Amino acid sequence: MSGGPPAGAVIVTGAGSGVGASTATALAGRGYRVVAAVHSLDRTAGLDELVARSGAEVEVAELDVTDEPALPAFTAGVVARHGGLHAVVNSAGVTGVETFEDEDLANYRRVFDVNVFGPVALFKSALPYLRASGGRIIAVGSIAGVLGLPFQESYSGSKFALEGILEAFAPVARRSGVAVSVVEPGPISTEAVRRTDWIRVFKGAGPYEGLLRQYVDNAAALRGTLPGLPPTQTPAEVAEAIVDLLASDDPPFRCPTAPGTRLLLARKLADVSGETVGEVTGRWLDAATSETAE
Ligand SMILES: NC(=O)c1ccc[n+]([C@@H]2O[C@H](COP(=O)([O-])OP(=O)(O)OC[C@H]3O[C@@H](n4cnc5c(N)ncnc54)[C@H](OP(=O)(O)O)[C@@H]3O)[C@@H](O)[C@H]2O)c1
Repeated sequence: MSGGPPAGAVIVTGAGSGVGASTATALAGRGYRVVAAVHSLDRTAGLDELVARSGAEVEVAELDVTDEPALPAFTAGVVARHGGLHAVVNSAGVTGVETFEDEDLANYRRVFDVNVFGPVALFKSALPYLRASGGRIIAVGSIAGVLGLPFQESYSGSKFALEGILEAFAPVARRSGVAVSVVEPGPISTEAVRRTDWIRVFKGAGPYEGLLRQYVDNAAALRGTLPGLPPTQTPAEVAEAIVDLLASDDPPFRCPTAPGTRLLLARKLADVSGETVGEVTGRWLDAATSETAE
């Protein structure tokens, strides 16, 4: 992007820890006006440490992405304080390991509330400002949004759902001046996975306990990098991919963050960057052509 960071703020959700904290500080270090939206002002240790170390300046604000009624006032407040909005980066998310038979639907609803409905409502609240600024939507998805991961059914389903919703919207958004991208990391060394309550999960695993233990042992033996998976990244590495995406004049829809990920995604997708699908569905929005389906 020529001429330095654009005017207007960048909201980064889930900024109290992990990828969100790294992204907020990395963007602030590049001169963006960052609103670090943390789930709770009581849980900002990850962000505080990075801010202290880097000297980056961020505005910290509390935001629960599932608090739908609060979202329009939140985005309007950011715009009022910063004079505009350039981008929303949603890193807020929950994950977990479960077995299909044991996981109850209440947990599916919780996962979808945070990983799908919250970000969708937040992006909707931000769109009037993003259309005005020619801004960006970036969702932190996952390779689990393209490949279903064993024992992560609700998580994979939620990432598929978010990616599908945004893939549908991306060509429409682009014609309103807003670029939509989904960042797709493989495994990341954050607290998210380490928080799993293994005793509860193994206890509820029933007939799948042996398989689950084998899966966990395989992953542990290879430090999370199972065959075919990209190497485990740090949150800072994922944040750098987000910084590059935001700086790009022509951001792709789908953005794998780790080397080797493209190959894995290509085994499932013929259109890794999303360009082909965007071209096809985008043409449906442009002036009519006489072309018919093959
Ligand atoms: N870790 C991985 O291997 C991995 C791989 C691929 C993609 N991802 C994705 O990367 C993103 C960041 O995850 P991470 O690995 O950095 O884990 P993380 O450190 O746990 O970050 C997730 C953040 O989301 C926040 N959050 C949870 N519920 C929220 C809510 N309702 N409203 C607002 N914020 C909420 C959490 O805050 P609290 O902790 O205070 O609740 C936490 O700060 C997620 O979308 C995740 O799905 C992770």
